[in-house]
Amino acid sequence: MTDLWWKRAVVYQIYPRSFADADGDGMGDLRGVIDHLDHLAELGVDVLWLSPIYKSPQDDNGYDISDYQDIDPLFGELATFDELLAGAHRRGMKLIMDLVVNHSSDEHPWFVESRSSKDNPKRDWYWWRPAREGMEPGTPGAEPTNWGSVFGGPAWNYDKETGEYYLHLFSPKQPDLNWENPEVREAVYAMMRWWLDRGVDGFRMDVINMISKVLPLTDGRLTAGAAYGDGGPSYINGPRNHEFLREMHDQVFAGRPGMLTVGEMPGVTVDEAIKFTDQDRHEVDMVFQFDHVWADRGGDPWKLIPLQLTVLKGIFGRWQAGLAEVGWNSLYWNNHDQPRVVSRYGDDSPEHRVAAAKMLGTVLHLHRGTPYVYQGEELGMTNAPFASIDDFRDIESRNHYAEAIARGATPDEVLATMRPMSRDNARTPMQWDATEHAGFTTGEPWIAVNPNHTEINARAARADPDSVFHHYRRLIELRHTEPVVAHGDFTMLLGDDERVYAFTRRLDDVELLVLGNFSASPATPAIDGWDDADVLIGEGAGVVLGPWEGRVLKRVG
Ligand code: GLC
Repeated sequence: MTDLWWKRAVVYQIYPRSFADADGDGMGDLRGVIDHLDHLAELGVDVLWLSPIYKSPQDDNGYDISDYQDIDPLFGELATFDELLAGAHRRGMKLIMDLVVNHSSDEHPWFVESRSSKDNPKRDWYWWRPAREGMEPGTPGAEPTNWGSVFGGPAWNYDKETGEYYLHLFSPKQPDLNWENPEVREAVYAMMRWWLDRGVDGFRMDVINMISKVLPLTDGRLTAGAAYGDGGPSYINGPRNHEFLREMHDQVFAGRPGMLTVGEMPGVTVDEAIKFTDQDRHEVDMVFQFDHVWADRGGDPWKLIPLQLTVLKGIFGRWQAGLAEVGWNSLYWNNHDQPRVVSRYGDDSPEHRVAAAKMLGTVLHLHRGTPYVYQGEELGMTNAPFASIDDFRDIESRNHYAEAIARGATPDEVLATMRPMSRDNARTPMQWDATEHAGFTTGEPWIAVNPNHTEINARAARADPDSVFHHYRRLIELRHTEPVVAHGDFTMLLGDDERVYAFTRRLDDVELLVLGNFSASPATPAIDGWDDADVLIGEGAGVVLGPWEGRVLKRVG
């Protein structure tokens, strides 16, 4: 029987450059992670996911890899990595790596060879295409298709040497690998086996639903006013995506029980996710979908609209129902690409921050699926007070700023949209204590520490039994000890209520009621029969909720 241990597990994401800096260069490193393993063990998480630590020019903070089988000197070396892995295993935690193979760095030797000449044996390892028919190569509009890249500008870069373009769905320093070529796939699988042989416990797979492209590559639909066509239909969940993941499973994971595979899949639908995570199909164990982190955005990632709780519930409800019988959900509020949830869907005012952070954790962790905690979430870390463009580091944010200014926007206007949504909100250093730079580094941090670290930090949180940290510890423990949390079914209640999030979970005769007040005023939802139920999580009893309060009740029968 397949060991589905990960249904009872909680994953903790480490973004190494912002976690802890042991050598004082201002950049987090592997030694820093080793130094803080006890914090993670105390929290009780089962799996650590490390964002990329491989050799990289760091154009996209390591999501541009120039050597998949070595550690970037910024972070340490392979021996340090082995020490970290052993330290995690000794504490009963597994460790999964970030697998970034939709693209490599343009400085990867594979790409260096590929771009060197049209007849290089690795030419076909990437997507090379001539200029659009009848157009002068390298001139505006001559790109092979009209697609825009995720980080702005066209998705094609002209290479003068050979007179052709290469595809990059992200930055020009992240050329897309051509998965149609079996040699590419074999090289990737061999690299993955090498890490598993080293002892790692699986992979989180970056944009893994973009690896199969629809052939031939053709223009995307152009909406009025848009600079680029929408290439998405040509590369999101392409025709061979399932086949490639099954082949990867056969070539890499077969015969290695106990592994965890997580597919990050922007734009994935519920129906496709069921297929990707059906255990009988041998593709991946769970997917990361994005619907619930788009609940407060218009069609444009930078356009914020006020969160409607009914919309959020609709999204979660659809995913819970869709994956109820077959497949499995990942559950997350935060990662290195999302603003901090307490500032976003909660309330980060001094009065309500702690309650809101706890409530958000409760609601998320009690859904059916595997919860992810992103570093600092267990402290209720907030968005950062970025004052000017100089405070931002992220390529996506900085490109967006430059493009918006070029279009005529004022700095104040652009900054107002960037502050709440920039990925840098997640990337400010982990707040360990109240000292200068939050105990993150003794040097100058690569991105400024949030000034609220004097109050919000791990040392203070560990010492306070009522902190967000101890609340998360209890949530994680509950998943380990109450089978209904991992295995129970899910029923959404009060779907039309704009303030209270409510659902039940049931396994045999055990039933849980989960409540979350998404508002700063008290709420008494109309739900009967729970007055005498046991309180598993939260203060108070019954269904009467204080501002931003969350609660888990249990009854048997
Ligand atoms: C994923 C990563 C993101 C990165 C992108 C390109 O979405 O989470 O950080 O920029 O892929 O690799």
